[in-house]
Amino acid sequence: METRLVDRYGRVHDYLRISVTDRCNLRCLYCMPAEGVEFMPHNKLLTNDEIEEVVRAAAKLGVRKIRLTGGEPTVRAGLPQLIKRIASVPGIIDVALTTNGLLLGNMAADLYEAGLQRVNISIDSLQPERFKQMTRGGDLSKVLASIEKCVQLGLSPIKLNVVLVRGYNEDEFDDFLRLTIDRPLTVRFIEYMPIGGRQADWKHNYIALEERLHASQFGRAAVPLAKPDHGGPAEYYRIPDALGSFGLIHPVSEHFCDTCNRLRLTADGFLKPCLYWSDEFQIRRYIGDEHALMNALLRSLDAKPLNHEMAREWSGQQLSHEPTTRTMSQIGG
Ligand code: 5AD
Ligand code: SF4
Repeated sequence: METRLVDRYGRVHDYLRISVTDRCNLRCLYCMPAEGVEFMPHNKLLTNDEIEEVVRAAAKLGVRKIRLTGGEPTVRAGLPQLIKRIASVPGIIDVALTTNGLLLGNMAADLYEAGLQRVNISIDSLQPERFKQMTRGGDLSKVLASIEKCVQLGLSPIKLNVVLVRGYNEDEFDDFLRLTIDRPLTVRFIEYMPIGGRQADWKHNYIALEERLHASQFGRAAVPLAKPDHGGPAEYYRIPDALGSFGLIHPVSEHFCDTCNRLRLTADGFLKPCLYWSDEFQIRRYIGDEHALMNALLRSLDAKPLNHEMAREWSGQQLSHEPTTRTMSQIGG
């Protein structure tokens, strides 16, 4: 058996993103519809035992980095135990979490203790009312308190994810840049992506990031940084003398699929080779048979396409095949 996860285009996969629940305590406007989302019944979710088993098989195939996502991962019971188990799998050297930060303040110490090394916290506005509007109900002060807690604990790097949405928060670009001056934070601006097929407003609200950077005097003064070792899709910059840095992630205006190293596992046990397309593979049935599980991981990559087609969607061109109908909350970003 091949011992590494290499796809048809030679891309080596060493990064598995695991959505541990599709539930969320927020309803961000670019991620979930306001109402009418049906959540997976609890018995459909992979258990901690099952997730650990998938991670073991993936680690044997060269996966080194795990990121837990959701929905909102902190609403899943037993998250610290799951992190501890994943962190102790031989071969796994990095366990990270993407969270909205609402519940993180109280949990951060336990998660850190369990082996969590890094967090990405989503925060789309620094204005309480606007934050509440974009998240449909979120309390900004809780997220800010969680960020402080993570700084105190020494989690590093702490990345803040900001999805720029026209008509909502594009005027806060500089406010977010200012945050990086005297705090050791990495602010990452993300282009609004058309995922899930129900975002009727996407074209209207999408903003190309390059446009924002050039419109910001502050941003133009920033210095590009070398790509960090762990790669990733962001381009990083630093404002001269700032403690933190910022990054641009522009999946739509300029895709970075040629260096994609990630596979995704949904909370209900499907492998997704690409976040954009509908191809997925149920792997729950192989749990209990490591060889079969490893085989399924390898085979899922055969369906991995060269790239997504968000730019074609933007310009109204026909797509080459079916995009996913899962919402971002069911994929985990
Ligand atoms: N486009 C871009 N980013 C998104 N996220 C959720 N939905 C979208 C979207 N449509 C982000 C969240 C979180 C990460 C997991 O993905 O803000 O930071
Ligand atoms: Fe919840 Fe994250 Fe989706 Fe917002 S982006 S609704 S916090 S899963």
